[in-house]
Amino acid sequence: MKEDWRISDRALQIQKSAIHEMTRLSKEIEDVAFLSWAKPTSDTPEHIKEAAITAIKKGLVGGYSENAGLLELRKEIVKKLKKDNNVDADVSQLLVTIGAVEGLSAALMALVNPGDEVILPSPTYSTHIRQVILASGKPVLVPTIEEEGFIWDIDAVRDAVTPKTKAIMYCSPSNPTGAVFSEKHLRQLADVALDNNLMIITDEAYEYFTYDGHKHFSIASIPEMKRNVVSCFTFTKSYAMTGWRIGYLHADETLIPQITKAHIPFAICAPVVSQYAALAALQGSQDCIAEFREHYLSTRNLMCERLDTLSSVFEYQKPRGSYLMFPKILLKEGKDSTTFCKKLLKEAKVSTTPGIAFGPTGESHLRLSFCVPEEMINKAFDRMDIYFKE
Ligand SMILES: Cc1ncc(COP(=O)(O)O)c(C=O)c1O
Repeated sequence: MKEDWRISDRALQIQKSAIHEMTRLSKEIEDVAFLSWAKPTSDTPEHIKEAAITAIKKGLVGGYSENAGLLELRKEIVKKLKKDNNVDADVSQLLVTIGAVEGLSAALMALVNPGDEVILPSPTYSTHIRQVILASGKPVLVPTIEEEGFIWDIDAVRDAVTPKTKAIMYCSPSNPTGAVFSEKHLRQLADVALDNNLMIITDEAYEYFTYDGHKHFSIASIPEMKRNVVSCFTFTKSYAMTGWRIGYLHADETLIPQITKAHIPFAICAPVVSQYAALAALQGSQDCIAEFREHYLSTRNLMCERLDTLSSVFEYQKPRGSYLMFPKILLKEGKDSTTFCKKLLKEAKVSTTPGIAFGPTGESHLRLSFCVPEEMINKAFDRMDIYFKE
């Protein structure tokens, strides 16, 4: 008999979030060195908070906005897409969403029929897998090439395409691996999509966080892809606005009304106070992005240096972007990443995320976040140094 007759097959297929489980377990232990979250630890810049307060005081935020989002905000997004993503957009091609995740979910609901296959890289952001399942689609996980920095294996993607494939979905820069898919690879991916009539759904949450000369490339900037791409963006990472729940999606103008059909029953519109905050974020100084990037670059370097001294325990690819990395666990016990991470938490008081949460090729790995203060990284590694050398 079914596990619980009240629950849909969609919901039953979804596994408990490993990140939330590690957070729950971490709370039971005092003074944990926490490297589990992909959440910026900085606070939202003052001018953004002030703009939200002003909008509240002016009585602008008590009602709904247009379903697609405030026109003023969409006009600013058009400018940003041109300037930073080389994408020629129009306000009719934009939908302001509740963070990137609502945009991704709404896009999948509008594009995917039950049983349609959606190709994802493995490892990938686990929310994407859940979003495909909730849209009654089938996630098809295609291994990436770890030795080359977890990049797409384009031949493997081509081989994974079947008559049921509807879309390819990815985030670059990547959560959890820190991979950055290059322009060259994304052009090849675009060819796969065009040759097979597939949609590409992107999550560009970490667009500004790339290092060592690696560049973020938006696949929507390829003119031939106009009808085949839905690109999702967010204010969460760029402006440290996690809790404001605000992002946006860009797609062909004929798709926006269809995606809006999914957006309305879930959201009606994105939170209006957050839309005013987002407007201020785009119109104001962009210095915070550069500051966050500098900080992540230095914490990435520190984390890599500390990992170098644990080379009998971990092997890693230096992240080219995002603020996450995905070392391989070389010890025998690492074959079961969940048990390994739970033990590390309990015995060394270091909270990480088991790699299996991010797809089958994530097993034997763990995810580490470097969007934390340097002291947190040092605390975690001081403890691991003792723990693994004992
Ligand atoms: C790849 C990726 N996409 C989306 C999100 C969440 O974005 P938002 O807060 O805009 O919904 C995260 C958060 O960790 C993420 O890592």
